[in-house]
Amino acid sequence: MSEPKQLLLNLFEMGAPGHITHGMWRQEGNQRQRYADLSYWTELAQLLEHGGFDAVFLADVLGGYDVHTGSLAPALRMGLQIPQVDPSVLVPAMAVVTDHLGFGLTASTTYEPPFSFARRISSLDLLTRGRVAWNVVTSYLPGAARNFGLADQIDHDTRYAIAEEFLQVTYALWEGSWDDDAVLADAEAGVYTRPDGVRPIDHVGQHFRVAGPHLVEPTPQRTPLLYQATASSAGIALAGRHAEVVFTGGPNPGVVRRTAEGARAAAEREGRRREDVRFVVQAAIITGRNDDQVAEKLARYRATTDPQGKFVHMSVPFDAPSHPVDRTVREALLAEGRDDLVAAGGLPMDITVGQLATGIDEAWQQHFFVAGTPDVVADEVERWLDEEGIDGINLRQYHSTETARDFVELVAPELRRRGRLREEYEPGQTLRERTTGGGPRLPDTHPAARYRSGR
Ligand SMILES: Cc1cc2nc3c(=O)[nH]c(=O)nc-3n(C[C@H](O)[C@H](O)[C@H](O)COP(=O)(O)O)c2cc1C
Repeated sequence: MSEPKQLLLNLFEMGAPGHITHGMWRQEGNQRQRYADLSYWTELAQLLEHGGFDAVFLADVLGGYDVHTGSLAPALRMGLQIPQVDPSVLVPAMAVVTDHLGFGLTASTTYEPPFSFARRISSLDLLTRGRVAWNVVTSYLPGAARNFGLADQIDHDTRYAIAEEFLQVTYALWEGSWDDDAVLADAEAGVYTRPDGVRPIDHVGQHFRVAGPHLVEPTPQRTPLLYQATASSAGIALAGRHAEVVFTGGPNPGVVRRTAEGARAAAEREGRRREDVRFVVQAAIITGRNDDQVAEKLARYRATTDPQGKFVHMSVPFDAPSHPVDRTVREALLAEGRDDLVAAGGLPMDITVGQLATGIDEAWQQHFFVAGTPDVVADEVERWLDEEGIDGINLRQYHSTETARDFVELVAPELRRRGRLREEYEPGQTLRERTTGGGPRLPDTHPAARYRSGR
């Protein structure tokens, strides 16, 4: 009999008091206010490594959620991704207290120059000995555009075209700029680095001009493990070309399957193998030692969730919950004096506010949701792996660190018994090796490989 498929296991985190479970920082005992305390991160990292997690996956945004009601006030009030800290600064602290845990960093291709970004990622990959993944995002918040000198968002597909060039620049720096044996550190000969082992990249493109050479010597993975979260055709095409793990979600299996099939087909068209792209979903798991504990947690989480949160998060531009449910979207906008939004279109004007709210609820609801004792959870995780075709999960947190601790103490042992989670880490493995089962560097079929010297 073949080995059962193993679960890729990440915790979904953010350097902020609130991420995707809105308003829940208020729960008694929730540690989220400690996001600004290094000991929160070091304790969490140790817990995750103890539980056999592959990585902590750190989300990031570069602006505030101010589209809903045209104001940042609701996001500020509920601590929704603001205040926040830059996720990359959390990595060294967590790396010092662990040996194997990986770090998935979300970073945008739209605003920061690729040279400084590539340098920071290489520094982290070098210092953590190959434990870094990059979640490639193009950024969806108009507030981010205004923070980087633009009046408004660059349109969606242009952001993906920029991302394509950004990736090519970073590959040239990571893969091609330094030979593996360029650093000699030969005290006798007085040569630290062999000058002919290092070369500029001289990139001149539509969006970037970068001379190089890269400033960091080759790192264990060179290019970090590549993640991407996407749903659109432009995004799926990019994922098919580049991503090693696609992070997806959605209210039903159809959406997840469509994204997965689209990315696999795109990978094949680019000369990669279908199985070179893996799929991780955001998973909501509520567990306890018995049914009463599960029911208590479920009730507590439901009671503390902020109902306005999803409207803020999904940038619904008006105060939908304050209107009668049978009012149309157009009527609601006019009542708020938002004639500009009516004129701009883009919203479903003729549906009712109630229908809009139901749609938002459905979009927000996770298909990958289970509340039950560890055996019920493990059954469901196995079903996701075997029947829904996913490769792993990003565990959504309702309570920090209760959610992660419950998983480590209750679910992980059950998954181990069923052969779905490793017993121990392989010493010295990079995050790519552990995730893909291949080598520490990208395979030769990946587009980054053409930048390798001598090709
Ligand atoms: C589970 C999940 C997590 C995401 N996390 C982030 C994030 O931390 N920062 C960000 O800017 N975008 C994030 N995104 C948004 C994606 O990068 C992407 O913009 C979104 O899925 C829409 O897809 P599209 O860009 O292909 O239209 C996330 C998306 C998903 C599905």
